[in-house]
Amino acid sequence: MTAQPDASPPAPVDVSLGIGKLIVPSLIGGLVALTLGVYGRLHHPTGVVVSIAGFTSAGYVKSWLATAATVFAIVQVASALVMYGKIPRVSAPSWTGSLHQWSGRIAFLLAVPVAVNCLYGLGFQTYSTRVLLHSLFGCAFFGAFSVKMLILPKRGLPGWTLPLAGAVVFTMLIGVWFTSAFWFFSTYGLHR
Ligand code: HEM
Repeated sequence: MTAQPDASPPAPVDVSLGIGKLIVPSLIGGLVALTLGVYGRLHHPTGVVVSIAGFTSAGYVKSWLATAATVFAIVQVASALVMYGKIPRVSAPSWTGSLHQWSGRIAFLLAVPVAVNCLYGLGFQTYSTRVLLHSLFGCAFFGAFSVKMLILPKRGLPGWTLPLAGAVVFTMLIGVWFTSAFWFFSTYGLHR
Protein backbone atom coordinates (compact mmCIF):
# COMPACT_ATOMS: atom_id res chain seq x y z
CA MET A 1 0.00 0.00 0.00
CA THR A 2 1.40 3.35 -1.01
CA ALA A 3 1.38 6.22 1.44
CA GLN A 4 -1.27 8.79 0.56
CA PRO A 5 0.00 12.35 0.33
CA ASP A 6 -1.49 14.47 3.07
CA ALA A 7 -4.24 16.30 1.22
CA SER A 8 -5.04 18.73 4.04
CA PRO A 9 -3.49 22.17 3.49
CA PRO A 10 -1.02 23.38 6.13
CA ALA A 11 -2.65 25.23 9.01
CA PRO A 12 -2.55 28.95 8.24
CA VAL A 13 -0.13 30.92 10.41
CA ASP A 14 -2.01 33.73 12.05
CA VAL A 15 0.46 36.57 11.64
CA SER A 16 -1.99 39.00 13.24
CA LEU A 17 -1.66 37.10 16.54
CA GLY A 18 2.10 37.67 16.54
CA ILE A 19 1.75 41.31 15.60
CA GLY A 20 -0.93 41.70 18.29
CA LYS A 21 1.73 40.89 20.88
CA LEU A 22 3.50 44.09 19.87
CA ILE A 23 0.65 46.38 20.85
CA VAL A 24 1.20 46.51 24.62
CA PRO A 25 5.02 46.85 24.41
CA SER A 26 4.63 49.61 21.79
CA LEU A 27 2.13 51.47 23.96
CA ILE A 28 4.42 51.19 26.99
CA GLY A 29 7.43 52.36 24.93
CA GLY A 30 5.45 55.34 23.65
CA LEU A 31 4.40 56.14 27.21
CA VAL A 32 8.01 55.97 28.44
CA ALA A 33 9.18 58.38 25.71
CA LEU A 34 6.25 60.72 26.34
CA THR A 35 6.73 60.69 30.12
CA LEU A 36 10.42 61.59 29.78
CA GLY A 37 9.58 64.39 27.34
CA VAL A 38 6.79 65.80 29.50
CA TYR A 39 8.98 65.57 32.62
CA GLY A 40 11.87 67.27 30.80
CA ARG A 41 9.55 70.01 29.60
CA LEU A 42 7.66 70.67 32.86
CA HIS A 43 10.50 70.22 35.33
CA HIS A 44 12.53 73.37 35.88
CA PRO A 45 16.11 72.58 34.67
CA THR A 46 18.50 72.65 37.61
CA GLY A 47 21.61 73.25 35.50
CA VAL A 48 23.30 70.70 37.78
CA VAL A 49 26.55 69.50 36.24
CA VAL A 50 28.99 66.88 37.41
CA SER A 51 32.69 67.68 37.25
CA ILE A 52 35.11 64.82 36.97
CA ALA A 53 38.85 65.28 37.52
CA GLY A 54 40.78 65.03 34.27
CA PHE A 55 38.02 66.53 32.12
CA THR A 56 37.79 70.23 31.22
CA SER A 57 34.00 70.35 31.59
CA ALA A 58 30.90 68.27 32.23
CA GLY A 59 30.10 68.57 28.53
CA TYR A 60 33.28 66.60 27.78
CA VAL A 61 32.45 63.94 30.36
CA LYS A 62 29.02 63.52 28.81
CA SER A 63 30.35 63.58 25.25
CA TRP A 64 32.93 60.86 25.96
CA LEU A 65 30.39 58.73 27.81
CA ALA A 66 27.94 59.14 24.91
CA THR A 67 30.70 58.21 22.45
CA ALA A 68 31.63 55.12 24.48
CA ALA A 69 27.94 54.12 24.57
CA THR A 70 27.76 54.54 20.79
CA VAL A 71 30.88 52.40 20.24
CA PHE A 72 29.40 49.59 22.37
CA ALA A 73 26.12 49.94 20.46
CA ILE A 74 28.03 49.53 17.17
CA VAL A 75 29.61 46.35 18.58
CA GLN A 76 26.11 45.16 19.48
CA VAL A 77 24.79 45.73 15.96
CA ALA A 78 27.88 44.13 14.38
CA SER A 79 27.54 41.04 16.60
CA ALA A 80 23.82 40.83 15.69
CA LEU A 81 24.71 40.89 11.98
CA VAL A 82 27.22 38.07 12.54
CA MET A 83 24.64 36.05 14.52
CA TYR A 84 22.02 36.47 11.78
CA GLY A 85 24.59 35.38 9.17
CA LYS A 86 24.49 38.73 7.39
CA ILE A 87 28.26 39.10 7.05
CA PRO A 88 29.50 36.95 4.16
CA ARG A 89 32.22 34.42 4.99
CA VAL A 90 32.05 35.15 8.74
CA SER A 91 30.67 32.39 10.95
CA ALA A 92 29.60 33.30 14.48
CA PRO A 93 32.01 32.13 17.19
CA SER A 94 30.34 30.64 20.29
CA TRP A 95 30.84 33.86 22.28
CA THR A 96 29.01 36.10 19.79
CA GLY A 97 25.78 35.93 21.80
CA SER A 98 27.53 36.99 25.02
CA LEU A 99 29.33 39.79 23.19
CA HIS A 100 25.97 40.95 21.84
CA GLN A 101 24.32 40.95 25.27
CA TRP A 102 27.17 42.55 27.17
CA SER A 103 27.90 45.27 24.60
CA GLY A 104 24.21 46.22 24.75
CA ARG A 105 24.12 46.24 28.55
CA ILE A 106 27.28 48.37 28.76
CA ALA A 107 26.01 50.80 26.09
CA PHE A 108 22.79 51.28 28.05
CA LEU A 109 24.57 51.67 31.41
CA LEU A 110 26.84 54.34 29.91
CA ALA A 111 23.92 56.22 28.35
CA VAL A 112 21.75 56.35 31.49
CA PRO A 113 23.83 58.75 33.65
CA VAL A 114 24.27 61.10 30.68
CA ALA A 115 20.56 61.13 29.98
CA VAL A 116 19.74 61.66 33.67
CA ASN A 117 22.04 64.68 33.67
CA CYS A 118 20.41 65.95 30.45
CA LEU A 119 16.86 65.51 31.68
CA TYR A 120 17.40 66.74 35.22
CA GLY A 121 19.98 69.45 34.54
CA LEU A 122 18.95 70.72 31.10
CA GLY A 123 15.42 69.49 30.43
CA PHE A 124 13.66 68.99 27.08
CA GLN A 125 14.80 72.05 25.14
CA THR A 126 13.76 73.39 21.74
CA TYR A 127 15.98 76.47 21.27
CA SER A 128 17.48 75.17 18.00
CA THR A 129 16.62 72.42 15.55
CA ARG A 130 19.63 70.40 16.73
CA VAL A 131 18.66 70.68 20.39
CA LEU A 132 15.02 69.84 19.64
CA LEU A 133 16.13 66.79 17.62
CA HIS A 134 18.50 65.79 20.42
CA SER A 135 15.74 65.97 23.03
CA LEU A 136 13.39 63.97 20.76
CA PHE A 137 16.03 61.33 19.97
CA GLY A 138 16.90 61.05 23.68
CA CYS A 139 13.31 60.38 24.74
CA ALA A 140 12.67 58.09 21.74
CA PHE A 141 15.81 56.11 22.57
CA PHE A 142 14.44 55.12 25.98
CA GLY A 143 10.98 54.43 24.51
CA ALA A 144 12.45 52.19 21.79
CA PHE A 145 14.74 50.49 24.31
CA SER A 146 11.71 49.67 26.51
CA VAL A 147 9.90 48.14 23.52
CA LYS A 148 12.91 46.00 22.65
CA MET A 149 13.31 44.75 26.22
CA LEU A 150 9.58 43.95 26.47
CA ILE A 151 9.44 41.95 23.22
CA LEU A 152 12.71 40.11 23.88
CA PRO A 153 11.16 37.26 25.94
CA LYS A 154 8.03 36.96 23.74
CA ARG A 155 7.64 33.87 21.55
CA GLY A 156 5.74 33.66 18.27
CA LEU A 157 6.53 37.12 16.98
CA PRO A 158 7.36 37.57 13.28
CA GLY A 159 11.12 37.13 12.74
CA TRP A 160 11.65 40.74 11.69
CA THR A 161 10.41 42.29 14.95
CA LEU A 162 13.54 41.96 17.08
CA PRO A 163 15.97 43.13 14.35
CA LEU A 164 13.64 46.06 13.63
CA ALA A 165 13.40 47.02 17.31
CA GLY A 166 17.18 46.78 17.64
CA ALA A 167 17.66 48.91 14.53
CA VAL A 168 15.30 51.59 15.88
CA VAL A 169 17.09 51.72 19.27
CA PHE A 170 20.44 51.97 17.49
CA THR A 171 19.22 54.69 15.11
CA MET A 172 17.90 56.75 18.03
CA LEU A 173 21.26 56.49 19.81
CA ILE A 174 23.14 57.52 16.66
CA GLY A 175 20.74 60.48 16.40
CA VAL A 176 21.41 61.37 20.05
CA TRP A 177 25.17 61.15 19.48
CA PHE A 178 25.21 63.24 16.29
CA THR A 179 23.12 65.99 17.82
CA SER A 180 25.17 66.13 21.04
CA ALA A 181 28.66 64.62 21.32
CA PHE A 182 29.52 64.99 17.63
CA TRP A 183 28.35 68.61 17.68
CA PHE A 184 30.16 69.22 20.99
CA PHE A 185 33.52 67.85 19.76
CA SER A 186 33.17 69.72 16.43
CA THR A 187 32.46 72.97 18.25
CA TYR A 188 34.84 72.84 21.23
CA GLY A 189 37.54 70.46 19.96
CA LEU A 190 38.33 66.79 20.39
CA HIS A 191 40.02 66.45 23.77
CA ARG A 192 39.15 65.67 27.37
C1 HEM B 1 16.38 61.63 27.68
C2 HEM B 1 16.20 62.66 26.93
C3 HEM B 1 17.25 63.73 26.72
C4 HEM B 1 17.02 65.06 26.77
C5 HEM B 1 15.70 65.73 27.03
C6 HEM B 1 18.30 65.73 26.52
C7 HEM B 1 18.50 67.10 26.50
C8 HEM B 1 19.70 67.73 26.28
C9 HEM B 1 19.89 69.16 26.15
C10 HEM B 1 18.77 70.19 26.23
C11 HEM B 1 21.20 69.39 25.92
C12 HEM B 1 21.89 70.75 25.72
C13 HEM B 1 22.09 70.92 24.24
C14 HEM B 1 22.94 72.10 23.84
O1 HEM B 1 22.63 73.23 24.21
O2 HEM B 1 23.92 71.86 23.14
C15 HEM B 1 21.86 68.11 25.92
C16 HEM B 1 23.22 67.93 25.74
C17 HEM B 1 23.84 66.72 25.63
N1 HEM B 1 23.24 65.48 25.73
FE1 HEM B 1 21.27 65.12 26.05
N2 HEM B 1 19.27 64.77 26.34
C18 HEM B 1 18.67 63.54 26.45
C19 HEM B 1 19.27 62.30 26.32
C20 HEM B 1 20.62 62.13 26.07
C21 HEM B 1 21.26 60.84 25.91
C22 HEM B 1 20.55 59.49 25.93
C23 HEM B 1 22.60 61.09 25.70
C24 HEM B 1 23.73 60.14 25.45
C25 HEM B 1 23.71 58.87 25.50
C26 HEM B 1 22.79 62.52 25.74
C27 HEM B 1 24.00 63.15 25.56
C28 HEM B 1 24.21 64.51 25.58
C29 HEM B 1 25.49 65.15 25.37
C30 HEM B 1 26.82 64.45 25.13
C31 HEM B 1 25.27 66.53 25.40
C32 HEM B 1 26.35 67.62 25.16
C33 HEM B 1 26.98 68.07 26.43
C34 HEM B 1 26.14 69.15 27.12
O3 HEM B 1 25.88 70.18 26.50
O4 HEM B 1 25.76 68.94 28.27
N3 HEM B 1 21.56 63.11 25.96
N4 HEM B 1 20.92 67.11 26.14
